[in-house]
Amino acid sequence: SGIGAAVARRLGAQGWRLVLSGRDAERLGRVAERAPASVFPADLTRSGAERRLTRFALDHTGRVDLLVAGAGVGWAGDFTAMPPSDLDEVVEVVEVDLLSTLRLVRQVVPHMVEAGSGRVVLVGSLAGAVAVRGEAVYSAAKAGLGAFADALRYELRGSGVAVGLVVPGVVDTPFFDRRGVPYRRSWPGPVP
Ligand SMILES: NC(=O)c1ccc[n+]([C@@H]2O[C@H](COP(=O)([O-])OP(=O)(O)OC[C@H]3O[C@@H](n4cnc5c(N)ncnc54)[C@H](OP(=O)(O)O)[C@@H]3O)[C@@H](O)[C@H]2O)c1
Repeated sequence: SGIGAAVARRLGAQGWRLVLSGRDAERLGRVAERAPASVFPADLTRSGAERRLTRFALDHTGRVDLLVAGAGVGWAGDFTAMPPSDLDEVVEVVEVDLLSTLRLVRQVVPHMVEAGSGRVVLVGSLAGAVAVRGEAVYSAAKAGLGAFADALRYELRGSGVAVGLVVPGVVDTPFFDRRGVPYRRSWPGPVP
């Protein structure tokens, strides 16, 4: 969806052999029609999903040159007023945006190191770079992802594997509908 689908279209047009993943098999199929790709529907919060996805990618392409890890969900709300019990649900944000990404990178990177080349691109957020009022949990998860990207980059120096962190501002995608709270700030404005 959203940024992931746009990245797939762009890379597909450049001739990359793609493996697309997300939970919604039907939507993956539609994206794959516009960017020739193999699809692997998976919920990355499920145990072992990242391992199965990595195996699928290696089986279909032989090696992984680029991992774009952008699966993410938003959360907006008043942290202080939130009933403490709601934190258990909100923790899904940390699970998807941070932990699932760590697990997936852990599966893929050793193959890149072995090959002596590869690129990991993590999709962070402006909210993780500056922290945003009303998005405390999301900001924390994305800030964690940013620190992880920096640490991994130091660790992989000289290995031939590069690590990038993309820090989008506001992008016009289904992200805001899904989190259930529309984007209301006057600045920055959404980009397509
Ligand atoms: N839109 C913005 O303004 C904005 C700004 C800064 C950063 N970002 C980040 O950009 C990334 C992409 O967001 P987007 O704007 O493109 O929103 P989006 O259209 O809602 O895309 C989110 C993607 O994550 C996948 N996903 C969510 N939960 C998943 C799970 N448990 N397992 C596997 N895949 C899962 C979704 O696929 P399924 O629904 O099929 O699972 C979908 O492809 C996110 O990490 C988001 O935090 C967005």
